[in-house]
Amino acid sequence: MEINPNNLSSQEIYKILIGTVLPRPIAWVSTVDKSGNINLAPFSFFTVASVNPPIVCFCPLLKENSTAKDTLVNIKQTREFVINIVSYDLAQTMNRTSAPYPSEVNEFAAAGVAAKQSKFVKPPCVADSRVNFECKLQQIIPLGSGPMAGNLVLGKVCNIHIHPDIFRNGQVDHQSLDAIGRMGGNMYATIRDCFEMERPEI
Ligand SMILES: Cc1cc2nc3c(=O)[nH]c(=O)nc-3n(C[C@H](O)[C@H](O)[C@H](O)COP(=O)(O)O)c2cc1C
Repeated sequence: MEINPNNLSSQEIYKILIGTVLPRPIAWVSTVDKSGNINLAPFSFFTVASVNPPIVCFCPLLKENSTAKDTLVNIKQTREFVINIVSYDLAQTMNRTSAPYPSEVNEFAAAGVAAKQSKFVKPPCVADSRVNFECKLQQIIPLGSGPMAGNLVLGKVCNIHIHPDIFRNGQVDHQSLDAIGRMGGNMYATIRDCFEMERPEI
């Protein structure tokens, strides 16, 4: 079976993309707007884009009315954000922050998320995340202008908070991090069933 994406609605394409590109890590993104209002929301279109320099990226889609989500608006205004990693014990709290709150609502307060001050950027870190990446905006690449159009947000990591319990001898212990991933629909994955495979040498 072959599908021409030109013949599908955005909703139909969305279901295929999120049902096949998985599990996706979750960037739990804190931002502030130019007046200092704090925002927190999860984004699973998220990955590492560069190591040298250290760049991470995530993609807020435009809303059904083609306007930007608060996270994107805030980053355009203040050029800073924090990506907080979501462990299994934070799943329910993270999900609460994905509700479409008005822009003036602080999701830290609305969802009962403890905040901790960042060092180099204004948006706070999620205190209970085992890893926080403080980021300065590198570039935003808009990928369209209609509903569900992506905006690739690239951020340079300027500070990393990492809990000592998950970091031993320069290595992250993925079992202690216990990060979750997003699947299709409302499904999530854990990383509790891993296998090892060595890279080939020639
Ligand atoms: C686990 C999870 C992953 C999500 N990933 C994305 C994403 O990659 N892109 C996106 O536009 N929305 C995503 N959403 C929806 C946003 O979190 C939601 O629209 C939120 O209200 C945006 O908040 P904001 O307007 O404060 O930025 C995701 C929601 C959840 C629960």
